[in-house]
Amino acid sequence: MVGGVTQPDRARAHWDERYRATGSESVSWFEPEPRLSLAMFDLAGTDRSGSAIDIGGGASSFAETLIDRGLTDVTVLDLSDVALSIARNRLGNSESVHWLVADVTTWEPDRTWDFWHDRAVFHFLTEPEQRAAYRSLLHRSVPTGGAVAVATFAEDGPEQCSGLPIERYSVGRLLDELGDGLAEIASGRFVHTTPSGAVQPLTWIVARKV
Ligand SMILES: C[S@@+](CC[C@H](N)C(=O)[O-])C[C@H]1O[C@@H](n2cnc3c(N)ncnc32)[C@H](O)[C@@H]1O
Repeated sequence: MVGGVTQPDRARAHWDERYRATGSESVSWFEPEPRLSLAMFDLAGTDRSGSAIDIGGGASSFAETLIDRGLTDVTVLDLSDVALSIARNRLGNSESVHWLVADVTTWEPDRTWDFWHDRAVFHFLTEPEQRAAYRSLLHRSVPTGGAVAVATFAEDGPEQCSGLPIERYSVGRLLDELGDGLAEIASGRFVHTTPSGAVQPLTWIVARKV
């Protein structure tokens, strides 16, 4: 703690400010349609009677697209209440989405999900302890047979995101970091174009919990 401000408070303030100052449709990670996320969801083969959690979902429209596909049990977790409010207000009242303001490195789940999704969040965990906490949470949150979809910046991707340092991944390193007990379904590279026209290569994997 520095001057009464904890690291999680600082991180939360950083993300709230980023969404407030830049606007959810101008941040570098914005995409009008969650193309990669939906492609990963389709590869996972999760049934619409299944449940999904979007880790660090922010103001993304991914949760809405899952509802459009017929899912009725979707959770969106993010540090930023500002980001979640934007997504919640856009969606309107829906009993199918649960919004959670929480830090993925300290949060304790009280249930499991059939589909775990993370687009551009794991790469912010630059400390081994943070990645260990994420790994532990992931394995407690997804039952055997469930699916995991994670996308990070690729090895030749940007060195920072949102002004913060990040880790860049190959498919092999990402799978290693996510721990034993995941069988790869598919993996690859996806090039995201930011609202200002910059290109950002991502590494993605979809895996089954075995
Ligand atoms: C690059 S954005 C990606 C947002 C979203 N996944 C998307 O694809 O549009 C990263 C998101 O992760 C959230 N975030 C960062 N660190 C986090 C943490 N430790 N726990 C939960 N959310 C976090 C941020 O608030 C932000 O919404």
